[in-house]
Amino acid sequence: MILQNEFVNSFRASSPYIHAHRNKTFVISFGGEAVLAEDFDHHVHDFALLNSLGIRLVLVHGIRPQIDQRLAKLKAPACFHEHLRITDDLALQCVKEAAGLVRVEIEALLSMGLANSPMAGAKIKVASGNFVTAKPLGVIDGVDYCHTGEVRRIDSDAIHQQLDQDNVVLISPIGYSPSGEIFNLSAEQVATAVAIALKAEKLILLTEQSCCNPDSGDHIQQMTTAEAEAFLLHYQEIPDAVRRALKAAIQSCQAEIARVHLIDRTKDGALLLELFTRNGIGTLISSMPYEDLRPAALNDIGGILELIKPLEQQGKLTKRSREKIEMEIADYNVIERDGLVIGCAALHADEQSRSGVIACLAVHPHYQGSARGNRMLDYIYGKARRLALKQLFVLSTQTMHWFIERGFLASDINRLPEPLKNLYNPLRNSRILCKEID
Ligand code: ARG
Repeated sequence: MILQNEFVNSFRASSPYIHAHRNKTFVISFGGEAVLAEDFDHHVHDFALLNSLGIRLVLVHGIRPQIDQRLAKLKAPACFHEHLRITDDLALQCVKEAAGLVRVEIEALLSMGLANSPMAGAKIKVASGNFVTAKPLGVIDGVDYCHTGEVRRIDSDAIHQQLDQDNVVLISPIGYSPSGEIFNLSAEQVATAVAIALKAEKLILLTEQSCCNPDSGDHIQQMTTAEAEAFLLHYQEIPDAVRRALKAAIQSCQAEIARVHLIDRTKDGALLLELFTRNGIGTLISSMPYEDLRPAALNDIGGILELIKPLEQQGKLTKRSREKIEMEIADYNVIERDGLVIGCAALHADEQSRSGVIACLAVHPHYQGSARGNRMLDYIYGKARRLALKQLFVLSTQTMHWFIERGFLASDINRLPEPLKNLYNPLRNSRILCKEID
């Protein structure tokens, strides 16, 4: 029974995203390592699921280990400069073989319709083609990159035509020149160029590792483009795969791709968790902050009411009607996380007595414990300073300790300026705390 409820709840919770992602274009890139991995069929089944949910899907695969394998067999060295392969004639031969093989293998998995597999009944059509025009990288720092190239143009019309017909588009890291030359490209670069050319909603980079803070080892849930740039500058030692992915993410966001996701492909189901839950499991890079602390607007009222209802029921907050919040909306501030109000607080100010009352401070139970209350309080202090307030009051029945730990001291009703006294409900018998601010 519990399990059933869990399923029903998480399925319901994913519905805003099922709805939001429908008919959107996602570009997903993954390395040749992912294709070699034993669980690659899980990824392919997840791609199929996305396709059947109406997501316009472009897959870009890498072939690095497959090229290396071939070179090793020929006892030829794999040559790199600045992490980029130098593709001589022999390497180019390996590139062509590897690209062909990997493409065929992915196509085969996408075509598999075994009755007892998750793909049963799914009929996926795959289109590959000459969508990428490339040019030689040339000689850099005196190093001739030979057949290694860079993207020159993406035939976005041709890709859109395929997507319009519900085809999954599969792209190899290879480009052609108008004179028929073949170039070896980096899969991330192709994916980035494709996402930008298609004006995709998302670029999703399935990486070999997750993106963590090297100091704390903590996984990074989200960063703005600016934060990602600072991160790259500050930490020189992050793994190359993550660095490349972050660079691709920054470039894409700057070209107005709304969201770029870095997902550790070694975690089973990570793609689905990232796309269909609010917190995700990967690292989201976006120009706009994913979680925003800002003044409330009228259309936040529904969210605020939802957030405070349980706290009112527990007697932790005074009951407030929709009308009252509506009238005082200018006093309210919210923390919004991807459309959900997860925190709120109001500052009712009396500028004449240079005093304010903090009210209705609440953080969603799923998002407590990670400094959001503190952030909100700091935000309120900032607002109070701008209004030149000198003292802040709180009226509290159950959370005095939280405020006392943050420098509030016991006070009494007589110190509350007249215009703010009506906020005090004698029936609740709240304690009154006060803090002087500079
Ligand atoms: N599922 C949502 C999306 O696809 C949100 C993902 C949030 N991910 C994160 N790492 N913060 O956009």
